[in-house]
Amino acid sequence: MRAATVALAAPLSAEDQVAQSMPDASPTKWHLAHTTWFFETFLLSSQPSYRVFDETFTYLFNSYYNAIGERQPRAERGLLTRPALTTVHEYRAHVDEAMAPIVAAPSEEQATLLELGIHHEQQHQELILMDALHLLSRHPFPTPYTTAPLEPSVEQDQRWIRFGSDMAEIGHHGSGFSFDNELPRHQQLLTGFEISNRLVTNAEFAQFIADGGYHNPGWWLSDGWAAVSNRQLNRPIYWDEGTETLFDLHGTHEIDPHQPVSHLSFFEADAYARWAGARLPTEAEWEVAARQSAAEDGAARYRSGPTHHPVAATPGTTAFMGTLWEWTSSPYIAYPGFRAAPGAVGEYNGKFMNNQYVLRGGCHMTPPHHSRVTYRNFFPPHTGWQASGLRLAR
Ligand SMILES: [Fe+2]
Repeated sequence: MRAATVALAAPLSAEDQVAQSMPDASPTKWHLAHTTWFFETFLLSSQPSYRVFDETFTYLFNSYYNAIGERQPRAERGLLTRPALTTVHEYRAHVDEAMAPIVAAPSEEQATLLELGIHHEQQHQELILMDALHLLSRHPFPTPYTTAPLEPSVEQDQRWIRFGSDMAEIGHHGSGFSFDNELPRHQQLLTGFEISNRLVTNAEFAQFIADGGYHNPGWWLSDGWAAVSNRQLNRPIYWDEGTETLFDLHGTHEIDPHQPVSHLSFFEADAYARWAGARLPTEAEWEVAARQSAAEDGAARYRSGPTHHPVAATPGTTAFMGTLWEWTSSPYIAYPGFRAAPGAVGEYNGKFMNNQYVLRGGCHMTPPHHSRVTYRNFFPPHTGWQASGLRLAR
C-alpha cells in the first residue's frame, strides 16, 4: 500500500490549523478563472457586442477590486467546487475568442490593459506554484509536485561588494513595461554600504536555529517576537522539526546546506540578519547593486527558466535575479509623485501600500522575463509561504 511507505504529516492542533491553513492560498482552478476574468472585466465588458460568459463569475473570481463589487472571501476560494475545471476552460476559450480582435489591433488604452493583463497572468503563474506547494505540504501524505531530479547547490564563498555614498536614481525608466508602483524614477541618497555577493544559505540559517535564534528576543522585532512566541515558531515553515529535511515541490528531502534558505518571513530574515551582525538592504541599495550586477554578470537573471527549487548561483556570479524574492528593509510605500491609474485598475498596487515590506529580484518560480531590477514585490512581514530569502547588507 503506497500510504504505508510515506511519512504521515504530523496532525495539527486546532490553533495550528488556523495558523497554518494559509487563508492566502487559492486553488489552481481559481487562478485560471481569475486571470481570465481580468481580461473579461477590464477589456471586454465595455464592448457592446461582448456576451458575458456567466454573470456569477464576477462574484466568484474578482480578487480584491472594490470598484467592481462584492466577491468570494479569499480564505473561502477553496470551497468553490463549482464551476468545474471544464467550465473554467470553456470560459477561457470564450474570452480568448472575444479577445482575438483586440489582440490583433488594440487601441492605445487596450494595449496598455492587455499588457497589464499578461503581466498579471504571469504573477499568477508563480502564485499557482507557491499555492500548490502549500496545498501539497498539508496533505496527510505529502506528495511531490515533480519527480524531476534535484539540482545540488555548489558552495560559494561569501564576500562583500562595496558601494560608496551616492545620490542614486531608482525606479523604472524607458519604454518597457513596468507596474505603476515602480514609478516615478527618482533620486535617493545612499550612504556607503556593502552588500553580499550571494544569498544566505540553509547551512547558515541552521546555525541561527542551533544558536537558539528563535528563543532569543534580542534578535527579533517586537511583532516578530510576538509571532514567534504565540505560534511557537522554531524553524522555516517547510523544515521538519529536526531541521534535517524540508518539503518543496520535489517532496520531502534532505536539506541541501548550500542552497539559499527559502520561505522566510520578513521577521525571520530580519532576525537572522541581526544575529549575523548585518542587516537587510534597503530597496534602493538592492536596486543599485542589482543593476551593477546585471551589467557585470552579463545578464540580470541567473537562470533561463523556472525551476522547482532554489539553486545557489555559480561561484563568481551574484544572481540578484531569479533565485528567491529577497526581503529588503524598505516598507512598501509610494515613490514620491506616485499616481495610481484611474478607475478600478488603479486598485492593482496602490491600495496595498501599508503594513507590507518590499521584496526584490524574482524567484525560481517566476516566469522568465517577468521580473526587473526595478520590480517591487510586497508581502506582509509575517508571511513565509512565498519563495523568499535574504541577502545581507551592512
Ligand atoms: Fe490577480
